[in-house]
Amino acid sequence: MFTTQNRFSRILLTGSQGQVGRALYPLLGQLGPVLPVTRNELDLTQPHAIRTLVKTFKPTLIINAAAFTAVDRAETESNIAMQVNKEAVSILAEEARPLGALMVHYSTDYVFDGKKSDPYRETDPTGPLNEYGKSKLGGEIALREILPAHLIFRTSWVYAAEGANFLNTMLRLGQVRPELRIVDDQRGAPTSAKAIARITLQVLQSPLIASGETPSAHPHSHSEPNTMAYGTYHLTAQGDVSWFGFAKAIFLAVKNPSGSPRLTPIPTKDYPLPAIRPANSRLNTDKIQSTFGCVLPTWQAQLEEVLQDKNLRPSS
Ligand SMILES: NC(=O)c1ccc[n+]([C@@H]2O[C@H](COP(=O)([O-])OP(=O)(O)OC[C@H]3O[C@@H](n4cnc5c(N)ncnc54)[C@H](OP(=O)(O)O)[C@@H]3O)[C@@H](O)[C@H]2O)c1
Repeated sequence: MFTTQNRFSRILLTGSQGQVGRALYPLLGQLGPVLPVTRNELDLTQPHAIRTLVKTFKPTLIINAAAFTAVDRAETESNIAMQVNKEAVSILAEEARPLGALMVHYSTDYVFDGKKSDPYRETDPTGPLNEYGKSKLGGEIALREILPAHLIFRTSWVYAAEGANFLNTMLRLGQVRPELRIVDDQRGAPTSAKAIARITLQVLQSPLIASGETPSAHPHSHSEPNTMAYGTYHLTAQGDVSWFGFAKAIFLAVKNPSGSPRLTPIPTKDYPLPAIRPANSRLNTDKIQSTFGCVLPTWQAQLEEVLQDKNLRPSS
């Protein structure tokens, strides 16, 4: 039987300077020693560099928090998006397999077409509308094919105190523009990087995963891992809102003394962007809650916490 400690004795964290990577790094020490790598230290468009690093470091857990996340740029830079979001995931998985390592990977609501009326379940058919979504779906499929010992967490509308995200864009534009026109016909769950990191840790500490024996016990066998808990999970905040509703909540909470911008709801068609977005980004999170007993905070509670981190709200 493996223990948490020896199972996760060498943790490789990619994308350590991204929103989720930054939130994960301080928590992962609870599992074992972590090697955090930035793009400068490991460029995921360089297959040879990925193979060399994994062969040398021999991680027992790989957490891939890196991704090409520029959704609109991916329309014109689809080759790079594919390299980072699909090819690099394949290579990490190929290198993880003989080591018996577990791989944690993040994916997105943008693997769906948004036409369903209810929140999407893990088993629903995918149908990405844009190049970013296609590349992320490619990464998911590759990981499932190559490495049974994986956890894929699909999340949505990620933000943190630092980083390029909707919250920070609103706060910046709110200082300089009297009116903001915000899309009101896309709904999803704004999810904080901190919440994603905490739930990731909780899952990894769960007996289903932490004590789940993997093929590392038999490095030369190709037997399947013996835990049924590996697989794909939806991991978002509870509840849902439109981008307009999220912006309203942000400015209501922040209460700028010099006044807030006027917010005007608009349809997606009045704010054309290179990449098409799904109208319904809502993900059903029953599976992660029932499998691991995770309690997912509401998007309002997560917003409150992030605003406190930015010193924009008094801490309770
Ligand atoms: N952001 C969202 O709204 C959202 C929504 C749904 C799902 N997700 C998924 O959640 C995960 C984490 O996203 P996030 O919001 O933390 O993204 P993020 O803040 O954009 O961070 C991504 C990280 O990946 C790194 N990266 C990009 N290209 C790279 C390359 N060629 N080699 C090595 N590293 C590279 C970036 O490095 P640089 O800092 O040098 O660019 C950055 O540190 C991703 O899998 C993403 O697809 C995100």
